[in-house]
Amino acid sequence: MKTAWTRRDFVRIGAGALAAGAAAKTTILNPSMLAAQAPAASGRKIRFVSIGTGIRGCDLLRSARAVPTGECVGTADLYTMHQKAGQEAYGADVPTTRDYRSLLDRKDVDAVIVAVADFQHRRVVLDCLDAGKDVYCEKPMSHNVHDGLAMVEAVGKGKRIFQAGSQRVSNIAYRKAAEIYKSGRLGEVTYIEAHTDRNSPSGAWVYPVASDASPETIDWKTWIRDAPDRPFDAERFFRWRCFADYGEGLAGDLFVHLISGIQCITGINAAPNRAYSSGSLTHFKDGRDYPDLIATLYDYPGATVHIHCNQNNTNEESTIFYGHEATLTVIGSTITVDPQDTSPQPEGYSLNGWTAEAKKKYFDEWRAAHPEKPANLGEVETFAAPHHYDDTADHLATFFRAVETREHVTEDEVFGNNAAIACHMANHSYFHHNVATWDAAAQNIKGA
Ligand SMILES: NC(=O)c1ccc[n+]([C@@H]2O[C@H](COP(=O)([O-])OP(=O)(O)OC[C@H]3O[C@@H](n4cnc5c(N)ncnc54)[C@H](O)[C@@H]3O)[C@@H](O)[C@H]2O)c1
Repeated sequence: MKTAWTRRDFVRIGAGALAAGAAAKTTILNPSMLAAQAPAASGRKIRFVSIGTGIRGCDLLRSARAVPTGECVGTADLYTMHQKAGQEAYGADVPTTRDYRSLLDRKDVDAVIVAVADFQHRRVVLDCLDAGKDVYCEKPMSHNVHDGLAMVEAVGKGKRIFQAGSQRVSNIAYRKAAEIYKSGRLGEVTYIEAHTDRNSPSGAWVYPVASDASPETIDWKTWIRDAPDRPFDAERFFRWRCFADYGEGLAGDLFVHLISGIQCITGINAAPNRAYSSGSLTHFKDGRDYPDLIATLYDYPGATVHIHCNQNNTNEESTIFYGHEATLTVIGSTITVDPQDTSPQPEGYSLNGWTAEAKKKYFDEWRAAHPEKPANLGEVETFAAPHHYDDTADHLATFFRAVETREHVTEDEVFGNNAAIACHMANHSYFHHNVATWDAAAQNIKGA
């Protein structure tokens, strides 16, 4: 993986450099755009600990190896194998413990990466903030509206740096898309559509239960303490996303990335006004609480947003911004701007019932009123991150830099909370069979 980038913002290359390259003009984005990976002026590395070294915690530690501005100095997990996996992922025998509080007591620790299950975010984040640490908390920021509001309040009170963990917000392609959106090049955008689909048991979180999972290797009592008590259940430990006591189903797992991307590009940083969801549980009837298809229509200030996630069909993830002047499509770390033809055109279809004489008169008058040739349609433009680009590394770098400089991060607690609220509204509407409305005054969802 490339660890250092040159200072040039963009390298323009010829069409066809990308495999997909149907576009007339293709630009490979240079990650130095963020400048986040540059060492802090002091040259100091941010010393961080990781709480939760399961699937995501290990991914974060792997990405952190490529970020020279941070150094992992400890990890915590409740499961023995995940503790070892965390050390393997970081490639160093950093001290590891089951009790994260002992890490928070350390004065040499600046910041904490929190990658525990969603229902555990609130307690762990509040403990980190209480200990005076800056926090990178995985997405979705909250398990419910109340958790999110408590976290926003605590970050504000402690004046800490907080970054939610939807890494696409630091993705150079999303940053470029935000620049294009802000420039007005798309014209007015009134409709945005996004989806992430999967068609496999793994895509529906039917994760394997490790053969060594037992009450001896997993501290179940601590794991379950913020949810209704129940005897040790390894399936719930590994497949917590399926259950409402611990996760938020497709909305919390996948909508949140799409919504964070939309917030990043449009600059909308608000909960939606309304949400209406439809969906079903058709294929994965394994005792889970959540549907395997959910489609939600949101009313955001200024735009209608349609999001769906389907666990019964694979279709490439995309987010599409339909503007009056151009359509912007984001697929992975590639964006395409496709201009709309809005030049004046003479009527065609609607004249089918006109006589030849009336038509001739119409066309003569139209040509006289439009003597100039319409301007050429702008070319389709594609911008892409380089192969092997890792936006998690950039998101970590953004966080470490903010810890050092105390500068604002885009995906702060308010941004993260707004994205999470949209997810909670999608589920609220699905389960209540009704429109969910965000009551800004009461800071709660209405619509029983
Ligand atoms: N940004 C992304 O792309 C992305 C991808 C996957 C998951 N996530 C998020 O990351 C978080 C973790 O998901 P996961 O798939 O890694 O789950 P996981 O179950 O694989 O790992 C979570 C780990 O947290 C540990 N844990 C829980 N409570 C703890 C405590 N009190 N002290 C120490 N360790 C504790 C568990 O033992 C477990 O090993 C979730 O919020 C999830 O939504 C984000």
